Amino acid sequence: MSQKIKIAASILAANPMRFESEIKKVERAGIDLIHIDVMDGHFVPNITMGPFIIKGIKKITKVPLDIHLMITHPERYIKAFADVAGKGDFITFHIEATKQPKKVISLIKKAGLKAGVSLNPNTKTKSIEKLLSTLDLVLIMSVYPGFDGQKFMPEVLPKISRLRSLAPDGLEIAIDGGITPENIPQVVKQGANIIAAASAIFKTEDPYKAVKTLKEIAKQAVKKTSCMN
Ligand code: DX5
Ligand code: ZN
Repeated sequence: MSQKIKIAASILAANPMRFESEIKKVERAGIDLIHIDVMDGHFVPNITMGPFIIKGIKKITKVPLDIHLMITHPERYIKAFADVAGKGDFITFHIEATKQPKKVISLIKKAGLKAGVSLNPNTKTKSIEKLLSTLDLVLIMSVYPGFDGQKFMPEVLPKISRLRSLAPDGLEIAIDGGITPENIPQVVKQGANIIAAASAIFKTEDPYKAVKTLKEIAKQAVKKTSCMN
């Protein structure tokens, strides 16, 4: 499989008073997606940003957004997010957060956006396997959601390869949590093609350089993986 690897910069670790300049830095470095971590203090023990901030971010960047909803009852809020997001942006919700995943997917798609579903580290792939043909993206969490700066959980790696083996062509498989230059080759090898990172980009001295480095490592990892196939 030839994968186009995309790097998603999570602004959770960026300076919120300087979102514009932080986003411009990663944009100049060729970032593929801006990852927005939406937390409600209910599904996860933290509260972050919502449609109000996303509306502002849409005004300062053309880079597609990867909106990661860590909220209970996502079906109630899709319209609010779709109203501020742009066509082609991703909205990803958690399978653990709703009893109506099919409805959420259809709300996202009817709004003209791309639909993703996310799995917590302890959630089995079985819970979403039947939905794969209706999805644009699957996001595998490699930390328990809620905070940036946590340690990568290698035990989730088999879930990536399982989903890649079942995935229809074109399904994006994303990994999120604890990404570092060191573990990128492992996630690429298993079949992830979107790599979300917060600390590895924004908690470094030079986010521009960090994106360039992550992109290069991912590119090399793809080369290596395709040589082995
Ligand atoms: C965690 C968020 C992640 C987080 C990643 O709940 O969904 O996107 O920002 O942060 P790092 O890359 O620092 O683990
Ligand atoms: Zn996230």
